[in-house]
Amino acid sequence: MIDLRTVQRSFIMPHIRRGSCAVDCTMGNGHDTLWLSGEMGPDGHVWAMDIQQAAVDSSEKLLRAEAKYENYTLICGSHENILEYVPSDRDICVIMFNLGWLPGGDHSKTTLRTSTLPAVKGAVQLLGDDGIILIAVYPGHPEGAAEGEMLEEYFSTLDRRVWCATKVRIVNSPTSPYFFAVEKK
Ligand SMILES: C[S@@+](CC[C@H](N)C(=O)[O-])C[C@H]1O[C@@H](n2cnc3c(N)ncnc32)[C@H](O)[C@@H]1O
Repeated sequence: MIDLRTVQRSFIMPHIRRGSCAVDCTMGNGHDTLWLSGEMGPDGHVWAMDIQQAAVDSSEKLLRAEAKYENYTLICGSHENILEYVPSDRDICVIMFNLGWLPGGDHSKTTLRTSTLPAVKGAVQLLGDDGIILIAVYPGHPEGAAEGEMLEEYFSTLDRRVWCATKVRIVNSPTSPYFFAVEKK
């Protein structure tokens, strides 16, 4: 059976440029932030954000314990402000979103279409050449399903000469998570 995270990382790896920068738009418990920190290396940087202070605290604890490099900035705030948090003059090669709520956490603190769309549009603006935006979607709840439909509609409008927007989905399990990989030439 496929492991979605492994497949996601196989999409991301060709775009990793050690010494450049990445953004984790849904920090949660910091697992993706920690991975990105290691991949960016000591001269790179990762910005990560979450609306929950508890997520920031939990990620900080994980990174202090396990990160090899102090190359990260953790922000308590909404990803729709991504363009305010991340400097526009840095080379951004990866931007990740893992939509939904924190596993085991408060379901009311889920991502929402109203902030996800401006955040993704900001990510499209920020991403450097040969970069990738990876978005994991959870269609097993109504808002997650609606986020996925909204994103597919938006990605289908991106200029094919610059962007390649791919959807990876298990067709015989419609409520399972799936992802978009949006690559920039
Ligand atoms: C599925 S979890 C992310 C898991 C995380 N990638 C990890 O490795 O642990 C989704 C996270 O998105 C956060 N979130 C919800 N709305 C947000 C928003 N507008 N901006 C930033 N984060 C948000 C939630 O608080 C939650 O922690």
